[in-house]
Amino acid sequence: MGIIQSLEKRRSYYNINKNLQVSVAEAGALIKKVVELVPDAFNMKSARVATVFGEKHDLLWDSIYEVFGGKVPREKIDSFKAGAGTVLFFYDEKTVKALQEKFASYAANFPVWANQANGMLQLAVWTALREAGIGVSLQHYNSVIDEKVKSLFSVPQEYVLIAQMPFGGIGSEPGPKEKENIDDRVMVIE
Ligand SMILES: Cc1cc2nc3c(=O)[nH]c(=O)nc-3n(C[C@H](O)[C@H](O)[C@H](O)COP(=O)(O)O)c2cc1C
Repeated sequence: MGIIQSLEKRRSYYNINKNLQVSVAEAGALIKKVVELVPDAFNMKSARVATVFGEKHDLLWDSIYEVFGGKVPREKIDSFKAGAGTVLFFYDEKTVKALQEKFASYAANFPVWANQANGMLQLAVWTALREAGIGVSLQHYNSVIDEKVKSLFSVPQEYVLIAQMPFGGIGSEPGPKEKENIDDRVMVIE
């Protein structure tokens, strides 16, 4: 697939199931490859990723429900739990602080760049998983769940949770996208 075709196939999949087209090892290797290839400011390599599969994935979503104390709809949480795994995206505050000290005049930019690089990574993982026939969506239950996630999966304290990406076999395709006039948002200047 070319990049445009891959980006066209990347959508938010809310109807996912536990039937992955690839093995856990293959999905894990794919995510590792993407992390290796995605750039970061000053090449600081701030992103950290933990992918939970199977029972650990179920535990994550049950725990998210519990941490919110019933304030999020059970059916919504169950729709993510219905998947096969979740990619947890973090950045490492220790790495960011080290760069802030080393390049003091750019200090304010490093946390912004860490977030930007993480967004690049999220899109790349999302797209690569969809290329492998996997349905994905992007969720944000941080920062309410941060401490719980760290204690459940022994995540280092200095990792900052940015996003949760539940994925699984595709139950159904999302509806077509609304048409837009892209010229309202993009200028081509010669
Ligand atoms: C930075 C970012 C944050 C998002 N946060 C959420 C979220 O918290 N929950 C959710 O269901 N979708 C979230 N989305 C998905 C968007 O709503 C979705 O990508 C957009 O509506 C376009 O739909 P599509 O993904 O099917 O192309 C997020 C997307 C981006 C890029």
